[in-house]
Amino acid sequence: MEDESSSSSYPPPNITSCPHMVQAPTVISMVGLPARGKTYMSKKLTRYLNWIGIRTKVFNVGEYRRAATDQYRNHNFFDTSNSEALALRQKCALMAIDDACNFLLGGGEVAVIDATNTTRERRKLLEEIICQKHNFRLFFVESVCDDINIIEANILEVKVCSPDYLGMDKNEAVEDFLKRIDHYRVHYEAMDCGHDKDLSFIQIFNQGERFLVNKLAGHLQSRVVYYLMNIHVLPRTIYLTRHGESMMNLRGRIGGDSELSPRGMEYAKELAKFVVAENIPNLKVWTSELTRTIQTAQHIKAPKAHWKALNEIDAGICEGMTYEEIAEKYPEEFAKRDQDKYHYRYPTGESYQDLVARLEPVIMELERQENVMVVCHQAVARCLLAYFQDKSSEDLPYLKVPLHTVIKLTPVAYGCRVEYVSLNIPAVNTHRERPVKQERLEGHTTSDEDEDIHRCKIRAMSIA
Ligand code: SIN
Repeated sequence: MEDESSSSSYPPPNITSCPHMVQAPTVISMVGLPARGKTYMSKKLTRYLNWIGIRTKVFNVGEYRRAATDQYRNHNFFDTSNSEALALRQKCALMAIDDACNFLLGGGEVAVIDATNTTRERRKLLEEIICQKHNFRLFFVESVCDDINIIEANILEVKVCSPDYLGMDKNEAVEDFLKRIDHYRVHYEAMDCGHDKDLSFIQIFNQGERFLVNKLAGHLQSRVVYYLMNIHVLPRTIYLTRHGESMMNLRGRIGGDSELSPRGMEYAKELAKFVVAENIPNLKVWTSELTRTIQTAQHIKAPKAHWKALNEIDAGICEGMTYEEIAEKYPEEFAKRDQDKYHYRYPTGESYQDLVARLEPVIMELERQENVMVVCHQAVARCLLAYFQDKSSEDLPYLKVPLHTVIKLTPVAYGCRVEYVSLNIPAVNTHRERPVKQERLEGHTTSDEDEDIHRCKIRAMSIA
């Protein structure tokens, strides 16, 4: 545990539910000229931190500005001689900082301020409010990029679609955005180890070509640095699938290490054909160490790795049982699981929360890789899908991952495109719905289409 000052103004951390809350709340403040990938990093980092159980929220100053005024006509808005706009921009930055601090005072653990923060004066202000007034920690993440190809690709991918350029011609928008950058460049003061030697920060050069880390303070900052050093922006697709139908699936039993059923074997063959048809460059295949995933991947011609971390959730004393048998033999356990499925741990086994912790190295390695097919299990696939789709821990254990379906995950702009591709091999349905009582409370419907979702070809697209 880290040494914390006793004079902090934030409430005592709730360490019962989150093992990470052993240090002061932290503000992560982005730094950098426009179109340097700050929003991409802010969103991605926030998604990761929430997934590992650290309550994190982004505060985007551009959104505050757009909410405060619809005055954006062109780049002149960002000219510092435009004193009216400057005052408004400063007010918006202060509002975002204030909201970020209130989020932390209310029990949040990490607030990410997504803004340019390109001057020392602005960073001093952040330090005064965040560190001196509130006694929170402050970590700067600066994105430095001088590669015009990266900058232009970024402008074209996300900036021209910004509400600032609604209805504007694409080329005009690009031209205006480049001039906006020039206004910032006039006053830009990059962080440096001399002037900023007492500040905690990481500088990321040209999207990960090189890194500079200064005065890292504590476990959370090290984790953030480790994550930022592992992510990349190369185009790629992750293919997620459960094993083919197993003999245990056929008998309605959970866990175990059984072989595939005849329909499961058929899926294994279809999966290999699917891979050929997709024509995926440099594909790698990862399976768990269990027979049913290894059999499922057996016909695919690609390098394979078997991860113990990808094994199915350990159901402890309930391994090998049907849900009916569990309800009969351990009614209290069965009820407890329905009350809070994410945190419920099978006696002598694991919870979904344990599973997320077990899968963190898998996610980190997936972030480093390009095209990968992960052949795994229902609970494991739910955890991985929740990471890519930014799903809450309440929703995670109920995500639908039908058998005999490939889920294609392709990074796009600030999110991930998700496509479900059924390979049209019938299989049992192993999905247990969220208990009705909870569903009503949360406004979900009970009529559900999942029953035979895997029997027909679907290409459901969504942007996470
Ligand atoms: C914006 O208003 O779009 C950006 C604000 C900033 O400079 O951080």
